[in-house]
Amino acid sequence: MRDFVCLAHEVPLDGAASLDDLPGAGRLDLLARFVTSALLTSHGVREDTAAHLVVRDQFTVRVDGATVRNLRPDERSTAARLRDALDARDGAIGHQEAEPSPGVHVGRFDLAATLDRLDGPLVQCHEAGTPLPEESVPEDPTFVLSDHRDFTDAEADLLAERADARVSVGPERLHADQTVTVAHNWLDTGGYRTY
Ligand SMILES: C[S@@+](CC[C@H](N)C(=O)[O-])C[C@H]1O[C@@H](n2cnc3c(N)ncnc32)[C@H](O)[C@@H]1O
Repeated sequence: MRDFVCLAHEVPLDGAASLDDLPGAGRLDLLARFVTSALLTSHGVREDTAAHLVVRDQFTVRVDGATVRNLRPDERSTAARLRDALDARDGAIGHQEAEPSPGVHVGRFDLAATLDRLDGPLVQCHEAGTPLPEESVPEDPTFVLSDHRDFTDAEADLLAERADARVSVGPERLHADQTVTVAHNWLDTGGYRTY
């Protein structure tokens, strides 16, 4: 199992997210690309992978590759699924998630609670981390990334406390979705060994 967690700092929770202005909706364009990069291949879905968006450290939208249906590669339809999930957040009660569409869940989990629910080694993706080739390839990892903003101090402190590794995927500062693609490739190839 692979889990990818993205910290979404600016997505509106008041219904103001417009599908005609995804960048203006807290970079919903980037977050939709993060989800499709985590879950989609050219003609398939990575059933062993889940994508988690921690929104404003209040709610987490979880898209499960094993059960999601009709996830398409275009940003707009994926953004609509994410926006609809957030709109359904009142259906999440206590630790019970709501599932507004197949495989798309929303729960009342901040970053700490989301990480509590995930097993496996925790890997923070950070531009200043250890180069991937210097790390051993983890089993069932959880990668944590930030959106277009830096990790907040509280997030950085939590990850410094809990993360098993902090890795750099390359010398360039990438978008979160691009970073996911590199991380998948590292795992797919067993550390750039098997093609
Ligand atoms: C666009 S970057 C964040 C923006 C950047 N911190 C800033 O404020 O200029 C999105 C995220 O992708 C991940 N990321 C980007 N480049 C990376 C790299 N070279 N190695 C590892 N992670 C990277 C990090 O998690 C980062 O927070």
